[in-house]
Amino acid sequence: MSDQPDQQTEPSQKKPFLYVVVCASGIAGDVGKLITAAQEANWDVGVVATPQGLGFIDAEAVEAQTGYPIRSAWRMPGDPRPLPPSDAIAVAPATFNTINKWAAGISDTLALGILCEAHGRGIPIAVMPHLNRAQAAHPAYARSLDVLREMGVLIGSYEPHQPKAGGGADRYRWEEALELLTPGLSPRA
Ligand SMILES: Cc1cc2nc3c(=O)[nH]c(=O)nc-3n(C[C@H](O)[C@H](O)[C@H](O)COP(=O)(O)O)c2cc1C
Repeated sequence: MSDQPDQQTEPSQKKPFLYVVVCASGIAGDVGKLITAAQEANWDVGVVATPQGLGFIDAEAVEAQTGYPIRSAWRMPGDPRPLPPSDAIAVAPATFNTINKWAAGISDTLALGILCEAHGRGIPIAVMPHLNRAQAAHPAYARSLDVLREMGVLIGSYEPHQPKAGGGADRYRWEEALELLTPGLSPRA
């Protein structure tokens, strides 16, 4: 069952709507940086968190910042759709787990369901991996990135960090997601 709203004609003055898919990475708590950058670049933003990812973010602060409820579970049939349709999706931070499941077509979280369908819907997606070198060394990871590339997904440049070294938060360029989705965009354009 699709949980993506049907794409409808929006009034022309509406801002484009960005879904930020947040996974359970140690830096997920900084997602407000991407939300701020996106809003400054004229996006409206809604957050979809994996069930694990929910535990890594300040949900109240994120909802206050975006003005929308965080989505994490499928709605019940007949419930209203809490977010407008997406014009683009940034998966940031993207975990080893979610990247591999997405590439394999597994759809057992709402976040994965949205990502798996977005390809067929032609929605532009940027994925911003955040993982360590031991995870990246697993052969499934390179294969998953190849699959996502073939699907047209835009892939961030983060170089995996040393295991147990704290996670390279200083090297993680949240705004790269926007640069990938809108080449040439200046943050305050
Ligand atoms: C403190 C902490 C930090 C973590 N950081 C990462 C990370 O940066 N990248 C990653 O792939 N997994 C990380 N993990 C492991 C994921 O949370 C775990 O694989 C989880 O199942 C991912 O779920 P999700 O992909 O549905 O969000 C971390 C786990 C913990 C407890």
